[in-house]
Amino acid sequence: MQNVKLNLKYSTLSEKEMMKYADQVAMIHEELHQKVNYKSEFLGWLELPTNYDKKEVENIKKAAKRIRGNSEVLVVIGIGGSYLGARAVIEGLTHTFYNYLPQEQRKGPQILYVGNNLNPNYVNDLIELIGDRDLSINVISKSGTTTEPAIAFRIFRELLENKYGLKEAQKRIYVTTDQKKGALKQIADEENYTTFVIPDNVGGRYSVLTAVGLLPIAVAGINIDKLLEGARFAQEKYADKNLKYNDCYKYAVARNMLYKNKNAIEILVSYEPKLHYIIEWWKQLYGESEGKEGKGIYPTGAEFTTDLHSLGQFIQEGTRNLFETVIHIKDSDSNLNIHQDEDNLDELNYLVDKDLHYINTKAMEGTISAHMEGGVPNLMITMDKLNEFTLGHLIYFFELACSMSGKILGINPFDQPGVEKYKTNMFRLLGKPGYEEGI
Ligand code: PA5
Repeated sequence: MQNVKLNLKYSTLSEKEMMKYADQVAMIHEELHQKVNYKSEFLGWLELPTNYDKKEVENIKKAAKRIRGNSEVLVVIGIGGSYLGARAVIEGLTHTFYNYLPQEQRKGPQILYVGNNLNPNYVNDLIELIGDRDLSINVISKSGTTTEPAIAFRIFRELLENKYGLKEAQKRIYVTTDQKKGALKQIADEENYTTFVIPDNVGGRYSVLTAVGLLPIAVAGINIDKLLEGARFAQEKYADKNLKYNDCYKYAVARNMLYKNKNAIEILVSYEPKLHYIIEWWKQLYGESEGKEGKGIYPTGAEFTTDLHSLGQFIQEGTRNLFETVIHIKDSDSNLNIHQDEDNLDELNYLVDKDLHYINTKAMEGTISAHMEGGVPNLMITMDKLNEFTLGHLIYFFELACSMSGKILGINPFDQPGVEKYKTNMFRLLGKPGYEEGI
């Protein structure tokens, strides 16, 4: 069984101190699981891997097959929790240069993203990149009213209608939104678009294992059954409220202990560039869930060894308020050997017969001990391999740990009141009705 495990060997934390959280953890565990069906608690994601609507999964697969058959490009419109999860899984599990590959080699549509910023150059460049090619769009918004995706949807809907005419455009627009509420739901109903539902009790950043993530992921040719199977395995594995046997809760407790020791910044590190968007997804999950009431660990990310040549100096010797969580992938899908060079001018012959994955792993080990010496505690999450099953597991691990960690911290990990502030100001400045000066 391919697994995901936590290693606290380099955490600087004592097991005895950690176990002092055992009662609190067990209590929070009970509370989370008891309230799983309360609509207002946004805990539906806890049981998604075992409870998710099987018919919806079949409909997702059918839609994905249709899109793969008639489109060279899928444009995913969404922001925050409505696109990061899909992008994280797609980039984590496809070819590093998936979107650059020729169509015959890629065997599926290019997946491109819009509606995650308000920049005109980005949108114009994307339209230019798509050119005359056949496309479909998947617009994703739980509220159905978020400005960035709403603007992008208006632009791309018009583009599609001009290109294909109303009827064909209707067949190429896929909407993922609330079951009843929101402007997007209203448009979808009026225009008869194929629609997928974001369950009421699943918040944006916890929604990757619903249609929000699963439709684009399936379009990229990724096996969504295996992804859900990995998450299901994790759901069962972390159903134990006993901290002693629960790696996921240990990660949550370790973070809180380090935070109390004045480590207010967590850097999620990977040595696999494909995990770039897993780090982005994790940053949103933890940042939006925990940063409240003047509290929380600031989540940031780094890609090594690349960032050892940019952030490495700071991590080694800068302000001592950091800890690192390293995602270590044990087995690499592919490898490269270093060959003998007679002249050895680059002095690399000492690496002959050592492969690149081995060298990357030694870089990781060397970095962990250097950073430890520099006073940076380390938590390590080891994945046996990077595939659908282990990534499904990792997603569930991080979601559950985030809710446990937030509850230990004493905040509500399922709301995001602070996000509204910029919107109110922006709407006032833009003259949106109802947001005039003084209101
Ligand atoms: O996690 C969240 O709730 C947010 O990041 C949302 O996903 C994001 O703001 C997008 O919201 P919506 O799906 O309503 O457009």
